[in-house]
Amino acid sequence: MPPNPLAPAWLALPPDANALAPGLWPANASRTALGELEIGGVSASALVAEFGTPLYVVDEADARSRASELLRVFETEFARIGGEVHVYYAGKAFLSIEIARWMLDAGLNIDVCTTGELAVALAAGADPARLGYHGNNKSLAEIDEAARVRIGSLVIDSEIEIARVAAAAARHGVVLNVRLRVNSGVHASTHEFLATSHEDQKFGVVLGDAARLVALIRAEKSLRFIGLHCHIGSQIFGADGFAESASRLLAVHADLLDGGPVPELNLGGGFGIAYTNADTPTPIGELAARLADIVSAECTRRGIPIPTVAFEPGRVIIGPAGATLYEVGTTKPVDVSGDTRLYVSVDGGMSDNVRPALYGADYSVRLANRVSSADPVLVRLAGKHCESGDIVVSADYLPGDVAPGDLVAVPATGAYCWSLANNYNYLGRAPVVAVSGGQARVLVRGETIADLLARDAGWGHDQRVDTTNNSGSTTAHDGGTTR
Ligand SMILES: Cc1ncc(COP(=O)(O)O)c(C=O)c1O
Repeated sequence: MPPNPLAPAWLALPPDANALAPGLWPANASRTALGELEIGGVSASALVAEFGTPLYVVDEADARSRASELLRVFETEFARIGGEVHVYYAGKAFLSIEIARWMLDAGLNIDVCTTGELAVALAAGADPARLGYHGNNKSLAEIDEAARVRIGSLVIDSEIEIARVAAAAARHGVVLNVRLRVNSGVHASTHEFLATSHEDQKFGVVLGDAARLVALIRAEKSLRFIGLHCHIGSQIFGADGFAESASRLLAVHADLLDGGPVPELNLGGGFGIAYTNADTPTPIGELAARLADIVSAECTRRGIPIPTVAFEPGRVIIGPAGATLYEVGTTKPVDVSGDTRLYVSVDGGMSDNVRPALYGADYSVRLANRVSSADPVLVRLAGKHCESGDIVVSADYLPGDVAPGDLVAVPATGAYCWSLANNYNYLGRAPVVAVSGGQARVLVRGETIADLLARDAGWGHDQRVDTTNNSGSTTAHDGGTTR
């Protein structure tokens, strides 16, 4: 069978449109003897019967082991060069109380950037000393709260913040560890990095201004400067951008040592993952080795001690451990200049995964409730929202007999899907379940229509609503209460 000419160049016609491609799916995803998708030992149909669709499913063992393995690999590589690492899980990728606990159990610290994220980490029992705080526009109240709880470290993102953070720390009688976020001039994206001399973006300060600002920080009695911070971008496949950035930062870091101690260098997060078969991220072990080598070489060249190097990965830990289940509602073959694309519409979309609409992100899809020997057809998995850009998977092949009532699964939705979820068209945000050892349990319950109405000042609390579910599918979501 020839590939569909409408397929993008990167999408190969799969020999088996039921296969779960290695590297794309949670570690504990497989097909049962009957062909159903199961994750963590729980079948897709069992999950959907209990929790409905759309449904975020997180493979707990996979998430935990990705976190501990990443820490182990980075610690090993930096120990090889005589250095140490601190790893912060970037909570923005996906933060719930339990997920925060998994990360803390694995030995990671947690990175937060709002009072809300801070509250989740604290509710998980995190020692505030293990938390880092970010943000280009932290409110005065947020800075105050971070100081009040004695946050482990805080990233200063602009000159204006120095006095604000110093005042908050003084108010609470603490000396706060602070980093300065700089723009290394390296902006990396998935496949390549661009080295620009001037970055036109909202985060951080230009590298050339670092010495002046660090002097201002060091002049504040309530602040302790611990090092530079830089995050060059996200979903980065190679090591070149990180290496270039590390080398630029270490040049400034070395100069800063003349004015006082600089115990740390924070290189941010951004390690990429596979969303489709065409994605080939650098394995984490290779990245860690390359980064350790570059830090070692640059420090030797400059004759400076190796600082503790901190990282803040999010996506690479939680992204591949997640998948989203949907139910197919309609299918519609569309003729495009003589070739056919099958639109398969599901009961979620840009409210549970806005990344395709936001960034043109690509994803993959497989039938979840069965396998089929029907010839594969090119599909576009569309959501149910009132936007033509509401697409979950722009191109993949599914067996041609895909039909209403089928369940489909989209892998690698663990990062930046639930955390970016929204209520467009008054869809309640879908629940999150963790699966492990054949058991499923709710991490965050789904929102009901009653939840949504309850926030509307026009809603009379004596009014009744009999719609319990999230997407309009016939299955009720877990844990919701109705009025
Ligand atoms: C400052 C900072 N650190 C870490 C991260 C995590 O990036 P990723 O999830 O791609 O590893 C981000 C993501 O936006 C970030 O802005």
